[in-house]
This record gives sequence, structure tokens and C-alpha cells, in this order.
Amino acid sequence: MTGRLFREVVLPERDPAERFDVLVEGREIARVGPGGSLAVPASATVVEADGRWLLPGFIDDHVHLREPGLERKEGYATGTRAAAAGGITTLLEIQNNPPLMVDRAAVEAKLAQVRPLSVVNIGVYGSLVRESLGHASEMADLVHGYKLFMGPSTGGIDVSGDEVLRSMFREVAATGHWLFVHAEDGDLIAQGIARHGPDGARAFHLARSAAAEIKATEDALRLAHDEGTRLHVFHLSSGGALELIRDARGAGRPVTCGTCPHYLYFTHEDTARVGPLLKVNPSIKTAGDREALLAGLRDGTVDCLSSDHAPHTAEEKAREFPLAPSGIPCLDIFMPLCLTLAERGALPLTTVLDRAARTPAALHGFERKGSVAEGFDADLVLVDPRERRVVRGAEHFSKARQTPYEGAELIGWPQLTVVGGEVVFARSPEA
Ligand code: DOR
Ligand code: ZN
Repeated sequence: MTGRLFREVVLPERDPAERFDVLVEGREIARVGPGGSLAVPASATVVEADGRWLLPGFIDDHVHLREPGLERKEGYATGTRAAAAGGITTLLEIQNNPPLMVDRAAVEAKLAQVRPLSVVNIGVYGSLVRESLGHASEMADLVHGYKLFMGPSTGGIDVSGDEVLRSMFREVAATGHWLFVHAEDGDLIAQGIARHGPDGARAFHLARSAAAEIKATEDALRLAHDEGTRLHVFHLSSGGALELIRDARGAGRPVTCGTCPHYLYFTHEDTARVGPLLKVNPSIKTAGDREALLAGLRDGTVDCLSSDHAPHTAEEKAREFPLAPSGIPCLDIFMPLCLTLAERGALPLTTVLDRAARTPAALHGFERKGSVAEGFDADLVLVDPRERRVVRGAEHFSKARQTPYEGAELIGWPQLTVVGGEVVFARSPEA
């Protein structure tokens, strides 16, 4: 059996002051012992970590990779390599371009196409659109949940109307899976556009308002309660919607949520200054919303950090604001963005590791992922916490290399990413 011994690592999840040895055998973490305590097995490769961090691979449950259908924007070969470079060892993907995941045959065909291309663990969501009605249960064993767009976004696959939404919530409840929503209200956005006009970053922010996110979150919570559906609200952007989720959880309801780095690094003032590179749905909101989301991450109301990697071509993102598509690529720098939040004091390091690995593992039922512990899958990332690097989109594996983080200095860059015991990414120190 192939083996790898990581000698003298720090496991920040446990104790930042202690050193450990971690032995990987085959696909698993076989032993974790005090630093210097484990003998080197005959066929093992030794990694002298000398105090570097060994982290659980991040589990990113919100990614768009566009394959099949829009491979000019991204694909699984490039996207999963970007993920590995960005410290992600498991990603769950939302297909929001045709062919949508509307029945079992579509999911089977997609998985058969993309699995052989992937260097990290992958999974997909079923699509909730009118054509998928009646098909949720037949794909239940193949998907990690179902994704519903409650407001207009890239792909134009939003669903509105209480009765059809109710049928979808009921269908998902019967599968036992969670229902994952993009919560923005289409009517409020349309009213906002009518009032503020379709042009420019300022109008975009005013139309894609916190009120729109709050209204859709309210509707989703009501339908989930009525139909007994477990609800996860993706990419929260406002403190107002977070309050609704905090109340629902306080009442013991099965409700979880996530947010993304762009809502924690930027405000709508940055969108106005930077332009289409920060155009995203939901829109980036105020400094107060950002502080509320950070507080929600700290107190555990926000369960997950995910990338919402949404690749578009450089040409598309170079259009004027109203014509540019929404979405920010993120996979290549996801772990550095998350860990730099800890370095800057915005979040405790243990909280970052929990929200990007341990809690998404628990939420998605990955019982042996999300921690560096004996018997867990060897999905691991080696990071030198002293190493600082500057974001250069031109170096990214993703086809979408334009990034609003260009030039930012971050910590937390994966040096080695291991999936199921195999090295899938190694960064040469001088690169
Ligand atoms: O900004 C966004 N881009 N929001 C979404 O909901 C979808 C995504 C995309 O697929 O480009
Ligand atoms: Zn998305």
C-alpha cells in the first residue's frame, strides 16, 4: 500500500502550539501521533513539514463548471484543477446552463462525462425547474440535493408562483434531501429596475436589494415549514436575511445557510468602483451587511463558506456594466481567501476551518471528511502559514482568469493538495 508520512505538522483544528505526525495509507489517514513519534513505513514518502499546517481539504458546496454545454467558459478538467490549487478536495456543482439536471438520464449522462475529467471529489445537484417536476425522487441517489433559483440569475432558470414552488418543496421533502435556494425575489428586482433603471453598478445594487433577498428568504422559510422541507439558503448577502434564518433556527427549524468570500471582502461601493468584475447575484451589499455576515459566521448562524465560482469569459466580463454577465470566479484562490480572513482577524482560524470543511461535510453527509483525524479520508492540504503571495489571475487553472482580487496579498496558499491519498496539486515554491 502506498503511504505518506507528514512529519512535524501543525493541526490548527486541534492545537496550534503542538506538532503532530500524520500517516496516510492508501486513501485513508491511518495514524495521527505526537510530532516525531511515528516510524517511517518501508514504502512511505516522507514530507518534512517542519511546522507547516496540514488542513482538511475544503468542501465547496456551491460551484458552477458549465460542462456539458458551455465549455468555452469552464469545464471539469480546468475547474477541478483550479479547485485543487485552491485547497478544495470536494466540490458540489450546480448546472445552470442546458442541459439542466431535470431527470435521472441527464444526471447519469453528466456524471459519466465529467467524472473521468475530475481530479477532486465531485457531486452534483438536481435542477428544480418546471421540466423537473415529478422527477426528483428518481435521481435522489445520484445527487447531493436540489437547487432552486427563486429569482432571476445567470441561465434564466428561476421559478416563481407559490403553487409550483410548493410542489417543488414537497417533492424534495419526500426525497429526504435538503433543498438549496438562491433567494432573491424576481418581482422586487423588476420593480427596482423600473424605479432605478437598468444601467450601472449603483442601479444594479439598488434593484438587487436586501429587500429582494429578505422577501425570497421569507417565502422559502414559509414553504419549507409548510411542506416539511430541510432548507439551505445559499450565498447570503444581507444581514436582514440572516436575521430571518437566525430566528428560524432559534425555533428549532432545519434551516442552514452559507455565504461567499466576495460578500466578506467587498461592499457595493467597491462594485461601483471596480465595475463588472464585482457584478454578481445576489449583489454585494453594505459594510453593515458584511459585518453582520461575519458575525453570523462567528456565532454559527452561517454554516458554510462556499466559492460560488461562476466563470465567464474575459470578453464577456469586459462589457459595460448592464451587459456583463453576473458571477465571480474563485476556485483557484478559495482557501487563501478564507484563511486570510483569519489572518486579518475577521474570523478565528478554527471558525474558518469549521465553516469551509467540517460543517459542509456534516451537512452533506460526508462522515469521513472535513477533519484531519484517524480513519478519515486522506483529503489534505499542506500550507505554509508564513508564505504570502499576490493574486495573479494569469496563473490560474480556471479558464476565467479575470479576478477582482488581482494584486491582493494573501496567506494560506496550498503547497500540496492530496485527494484520497494521491497528490493532485503541488506548487513549486518559486512559481
Ligand atoms: O452571479 C451569479 N452567477 N449568480 C448566480 O446565481 C449564477 C452565477 C453564474 O452561473 O454565473
Ligand atoms: Zn451560484
